[in-house]
Amino acid sequence: MKLIAGNWKMFKGPGAAAEFCLGLREEELEGVDVVVTPPFVSLAVAVQLLAGTEIAVAAQNVHWDEEGAYTGEISPAMLLELGVYGAIVGHSERRQYFGENDETAGKRAQGALAAGMFVIGCVGETEEERERGETESVLRRQVSAFEADDNLVLAYEPVWAIGTGKTATPEIAQDAHALIKSVLDVPVLYGGSVKPDNAAVLLSQPDVDGALVGGASLELESFTAICRAAANIPS
Ligand code: PGA
Repeated sequence: MKLIAGNWKMFKGPGAAAEFCLGLREEELEGVDVVVTPPFVSLAVAVQLLAGTEIAVAAQNVHWDEEGAYTGEISPAMLLELGVYGAIVGHSERRQYFGENDETAGKRAQGALAAGMFVIGCVGETEEERERGETESVLRRQVSAFEADDNLVLAYEPVWAIGTGKTATPEIAQDAHALIKSVLDVPVLYGGSVKPDNAAVLLSQPDVDGALVGGASLELESFTAICRAAANIPS
């Protein structure tokens, strides 16, 4: 079964999150695993409104420690107390704007996994790295920061494809996913301008196990269209 995760980024406060979740719970989404990742302040309402459905709620980041003097951070224990069982770590926007690196992404993943959460660990090369022919070495380095675990999924998100409309070709995605799996044998989602009209072809690649969707996850119609495309791929 494919996994479709909606990364809301810094969109949808509690009111808008409630509206979205009320709509989402009315949808028939069979044959696909669905995750939404609201901002921290909207997690509680998402957990409440999606309770009793198969849709999982995850955070967009998580600290590695149980508690401590880490201003602005949220621990795995705090998320679990809220009913949030998963988190994204190492997203390229965290790396680009907030000093996240392989070491901290790996620590976040280990802390969350040790606490019993599921983790979506993000990797992906920048445009310059791809042009310099460094894609393989960058991916090997980033992937090596994570340790295999039954509750770990990686997301290949080429930075040049995020929010740009420049989706990776199915071949680029497939090559990168195969490489990632040769380093760490875990499911790999593709992320970067996934839309209803390109989801099926990307998700049909043998090593593309799902998608991490940003912009198109914010509207119910486009998000559920991508979920349905995923459900229709024969496994
Ligand atoms: P996008 O974002 O779908 O808007 O390109 C993907 C992501 O950053 O996870």
